[in-house]
Amino acid sequence: MQLSFTASSAVNSGAWVVGAVEGPTLLPAAVVADKAAGGAISRGLSVSRFTGKAGQVLEVLAPAGLKASRILMVGLGKPENFDAHGAEAAAAAAVGRLKDTTEAQITFEIDLPKGGRLKGAQLAAHLAMGAKLKTYAFNHYRTKDLAEHESKLQKVTVFTADPAAAKKAWTDCEAVAEGMFLARDLVNEPPNILFPAEFSRRAKALSKLGLKVEVFGDEQMRKLGMGALLGVGQGSERESQLLVLQWNGAKKKTASPVAFVGKGVCFDSGGLSLKPAASMMGMKGDMGGAAAVIGTMRALAARKAKVNAVGVIGLVENMPDGKAQRPDDVVKSMSGQTIEVLNTDAEGRLVLADALWYAQTRFKPRFVIDLATLTGAILVSLGAEHAGLFTNDDKLSERLADAGKAVGEPVWRMPLGSGYDKLLRSKIADMKNIGGPNAGSITAAQFLQRFVVEKTPWVHLDIAGVAWQDNEQKPLIPSWGTGWGVRILDRLVKDHYEG
Ligand code: BES
Ligand code: MN
Ligand code: ZN
Repeated sequence: MQLSFTASSAVNSGAWVVGAVEGPTLLPAAVVADKAAGGAISRGLSVSRFTGKAGQVLEVLAPAGLKASRILMVGLGKPENFDAHGAEAAAAAAVGRLKDTTEAQITFEIDLPKGGRLKGAQLAAHLAMGAKLKTYAFNHYRTKDLAEHESKLQKVTVFTADPAAAKKAWTDCEAVAEGMFLARDLVNEPPNILFPAEFSRRAKALSKLGLKVEVFGDEQMRKLGMGALLGVGQGSERESQLLVLQWNGAKKKTASPVAFVGKGVCFDSGGLSLKPAASMMGMKGDMGGAAAVIGTMRALAARKAKVNAVGVIGLVENMPDGKAQRPDDVVKSMSGQTIEVLNTDAEGRLVLADALWYAQTRFKPRFVIDLATLTGAILVSLGAEHAGLFTNDDKLSERLADAGKAVGEPVWRMPLGSGYDKLLRSKIADMKNIGGPNAGSITAAQFLQRFVVEKTPWVHLDIAGVAWQDNEQKPLIPSWGTGWGVRILDRLVKDHYEG
């Protein structure tokens, strides 16, 4: 897809996108388009339900007297609410309209609504972002009917008064989009292709962006004492790995980093506590936290963020062979604490226990945020709308909530407390890996908190509900990687931890 920003001129081919705010009130370019098409938009309006609400599209096909193949008038909502996210949604709605067409070109001529909160360059960059994100597809394994599944769009043009400023704003957006696409690809890859070593191989390819990438195997992790993580992987033919990514972009190279930790269960069969068939489908995506971490690190590197950041990812496959960990086993974590594994399907917390401990003790980070498709229970609580947020630090929590709101990846804070922690008491070890029948997401978070080094600001994001969902928004049929996490983390860093 070719993308360009230019000062406005005539649209000589392809789709011409103009805007209207609620009313509907046509913005200047829409008025021009309507006149040029002999009033076709006005006539279309009189027989449509278009009111200018966000997400609406009015289409005029093959307008007489115009070289453009069609006009798409998109609704921008109320001008005072129109922001970067609104610009992306509008662009995505327009591109979505072209899905079943052979249209190869699209040109955006969206005027800044009066009273809106955006600057021109930001508007242009986020229109491009919305268009780009909407064209994502994962077709690596199709050998047939590709035409049906692939976007025909080749050329996206955005009209803007200051193309140079728009291009500059776009570089940062593009870095984030590429990070999201990487995360989506990793989640969508099937588990016979994407196992721990393959995940690491793909991570190593990022060293060309200036990321430092280290990979530790079973042997090194045994030496480090990572019995919790290794126990999960021991029933698999595939070696477990710990992936460490570093980006050193801060002015002061020795400044302590921010740290992101990801659950990378490349396939979760449940282990000997085997999942029923219906719940096992989609468990290739149980590395959504790992994907978000690597996607974020890629974004930070690509936009040369002025921050020191580390990503620590625990990669395993949870399988039930003769060497597999048993329910009743006791393992020793890197922290020294022992864990009675009563359910081998509560494996994510075991992986994170060691990855969290490693990240904190090696890097002494300013904060640590872990992301994990940790519990089915978070789907029960929050569905696919919010990620669950658990924390020991109000300030970090608020910053994340603000960042999430700004980029359209909202989070919802959930409680922690000693009453929940007690549910993890074991009869023979320091803790067990499951709580009672209720509050499953909270007891999982309580478990993780036992591996937070005292005074380290920590957030756990349970992204089981938001990391994958199908494109028709059926949240309970997991199938499609969303790349959730890249945008919110990138925004958090940008707003508070750079320079
Ligand atoms: N990977 C699952 C959580 C999950 C479930 C993610 C559904 C996405 C969709 C996790 O490892 C798991 O199996 N959790 C168990 C925990 C239980 C055994 C305490 C769960 O949620 O049922
Ligand atoms: Mn599991
Ligand atoms: Zn899992």
